[in-house]
Amino acid sequence: WRFIPLFGLMMLLLTGCGDQTISALNPRGPVARDQLFLMKLSFGIMLLVVVVVFVLYLYVLVRFRKKKGDKDIIPKQVEGSHTLEIIWTVIPIILLLILAVPTVQYTFKLLEDHRDNKEALHVKVTAHAFWWQFEYPELGIATAQDLVIPTNKKIAFELTASDVKHSFWVPSLGGKMDTNPGNTNVYYLQADEVDVFKGKCAELCGASHSLMDFKVKSMDQADFDQWVAKMKTPASVPADAQKGEQIFKDNCLSCHAVNAQGLGAGPNLNGFASRELVAGILPHNDESLKQWISDPQSVKPGNKMPQVGLKDDQINDVIKYLNSLKLK
Ligand code: CUA
Repeated sequence: WRFIPLFGLMMLLLTGCGDQTISALNPRGPVARDQLFLMKLSFGIMLLVVVVVFVLYLYVLVRFRKKKGDKDIIPKQVEGSHTLEIIWTVIPIILLLILAVPTVQYTFKLLEDHRDNKEALHVKVTAHAFWWQFEYPELGIATAQDLVIPTNKKIAFELTASDVKHSFWVPSLGGKMDTNPGNTNVYYLQADEVDVFKGKCAELCGASHSLMDFKVKSMDQADFDQWVAKMKTPASVPADAQKGEQIFKDNCLSCHAVNAQGLGAGPNLNGFASRELVAGILPHNDESLKQWISDPQSVKPGNKMPQVGLKDDQINDVIKYLNSLKLK
């Protein structure tokens, strides 16, 4: 009994209740709500089975215990009761049906072909070691790490990967979906309200798997439209950032696009100065940028960003340029 508070604490920690933007138990959209219902349903059925089995067990323990004066004999043995066998076969079948019917229903709801769904916003997700690329084919824009979506709208995802298996997971909005190189998985998610949700890679994919985080920012349709327009507006580079722009063009542009829809081996950096994180995990400041550019492996081991070998003042110039890539 002493350990009950400890178990309670462990349960609390496991629910991840400290951060409500990354909890499947705090659903923030219809898909996550449906899935929480399934979790509660299966948990309820399990609880029912455990309680019934334990009650029977305790009853048998007490009822048939050896009493004082009992002789050391084996009690009456029952063999082959049809009634009992039918009962303990039919009950599990009924329980499994109660669980299976809504599970299959919800699964098909999520997977219903959405390529022709005109009401949904289509987003193509490509997972790379160790970052996320998001394309909006209807809008002609692409971005990385920060997925921006309108609220109260079905987002129809097409998910794939460029190198190894990853898994796309935004716990507050819905369950995970594998991203596999060479094929495309589809499903829907939807957010109820304006917020920022945390996302994670949920498939062990390499040394920096646990650092493969991303964000989902939901905004009202009007704000979202504004964001799209800003993404499409070319950045004007101030005079003091032009030196850095040249260095960037010579060393970085072959992998990092800085226009609305460019794709490359590295994340698209259009509007990069408006993102809150560097490399998806560090706070956005000059120091983080310096660490990332001068020694990417120290931040995310195993990532594919090369050590370009820029000098300190060159790095400072590039940072000045990156800081000018603001959405206006
Ligand atoms: Cu990508 Cu784990």
